[in-house]
Amino acid sequence: MHFTRHSSYETAEVPVITRGEGAYIYDSHDRRYLDGLSGLFVVQAGHGRKELAEAAAKQAEKLAFFPIWSYAHPGAIDLAERVAGYAPGDLNRVFFTTGGGEAVESAWKLAKNFFKLTGKAGKHKVISRAIAYHGTPHGALSITGLPGLKAPFEPLVPSTFRVPNTNLYRAPEQFQGGPEGPSAADEEAFGLWAADRIAEAIEFEGPETVAAIFLEPVQNAGGCFPPPPGYFQRVREICDEYDVLLVSDEVICAFGRLGHMFGADRYGYQPDIITCAKGLTSGYSPLGAMIATDRLFEPFKSSGETFLHGYTFGGHPVSTAVAMANLDIFEREGLNQNVLDNEGAFRATLEKLLDLPLVGDVRGDGYFFGIEMVKDKATKETFNDAEAERLLRGFLSKALFEAGIYCRADDRGDPVVQLAPPLICDQTHFDEMEQALRGVLKEAENHL
Ligand SMILES: Cc1ncc(COP(=O)(O)O)c(C=O)c1O
Repeated sequence: MHFTRHSSYETAEVPVITRGEGAYIYDSHDRRYLDGLSGLFVVQAGHGRKELAEAAAKQAEKLAFFPIWSYAHPGAIDLAERVAGYAPGDLNRVFFTTGGGEAVESAWKLAKNFFKLTGKAGKHKVISRAIAYHGTPHGALSITGLPGLKAPFEPLVPSTFRVPNTNLYRAPEQFQGGPEGPSAADEEAFGLWAADRIAEAIEFEGPETVAAIFLEPVQNAGGCFPPPPGYFQRVREICDEYDVLLVSDEVICAFGRLGHMFGADRYGYQPDIITCAKGLTSGYSPLGAMIATDRLFEPFKSSGETFLHGYTFGGHPVSTAVAMANLDIFEREGLNQNVLDNEGAFRATLEKLLDLPLVGDVRGDGYFFGIEMVKDKATKETFNDAEAERLLRGFLSKALFEAGIYCRADDRGDPVVQLAPPLICDQTHFDEMEQALRGVLKEAENHL
């Protein structure tokens, strides 16, 4: 299995999920669970959508497969046009992959290739943030900021460097404010400070060697770090100053997760490349994409140059047909608006949990929240490795599932529980999550 400690299942039963319906999934014992993570930040439109299954079947019958290597098919053409239409500014060039890691990989390769063709051949390095996850191919894993995930596969691709993320809860002392916590001004100052670390890293490495910076709109690993106000605006200025490409890795944040088609729209910044996947098809078929600006396409347009990169299944006809039908659902049912209308209620419901001694922070935006657990709320002291192991692996993941909630207990950074339900969810689902979490987190105190 993927990312699985197999020894955990020597005695325990592997959960087998057999079907889904709306916001719920069912296991092989026909027990029902609220899908608090949309599978893996994927099933935006919810489970059991017949029209998506039918779109796939119809396409498979008509043309099951054809590559987009010097050929095209109508699904890829239509979807590329549609996605480019949603994407901000002149992000008009869509390169399909089969998933998110491949999109990240493609973005780095395009950045390097672009600079080689435009007289800046030395620009090849990438900057990314501490604890950020960008995928598992060698390039994407090199960009990832989780040393533990990389160690088994070192040496990885050289030339990647880390800067601080935007974890306000654990921001340096000077941004923590008084007893009331950080003010809006502290938050903004923290954002500028964090953005300026990127400029510093570019200077350290030499601007003539840096090709791109990879950032998620809301960083997932570590437990949902939204950008402080002004952060991305300053990052954009820095990227312009040093001619470094801003890659918005929206593998999680695109397609409604934050109530917009793209996270860049939510926070008002203009990337040079967006990488996306997951929610594009709501998971009814695999698909990813790298969306690049016209400027990045220019050197390949009429010079005779080729971007020597591709995937057999990139832009698969069945997946593109499913994506079109999925985006129809987005439009028809106003899924993005549903998120915007309800995110405040979702946040308020989860914030009720702050009365528990174990809950240190509730953070996120849209339908994308992290709950950080701490040993001591006053000092924000976190758990040591053995405690985190007992709490998360020994108890929480299983207990939440037994309480009827599928979600993620994660200690790649500080220990968090993450929630990212399908975009169709409403207050009844929020209450269900809060109730289950409350029971389990109370009980967790006995397992430390
Ligand atoms: C921000 C980000 N980038 C890249 C990836 C990798 O995507 P995939 O698992 O589809 O390769 C992920 C996966 O969760 C992700 O969250």
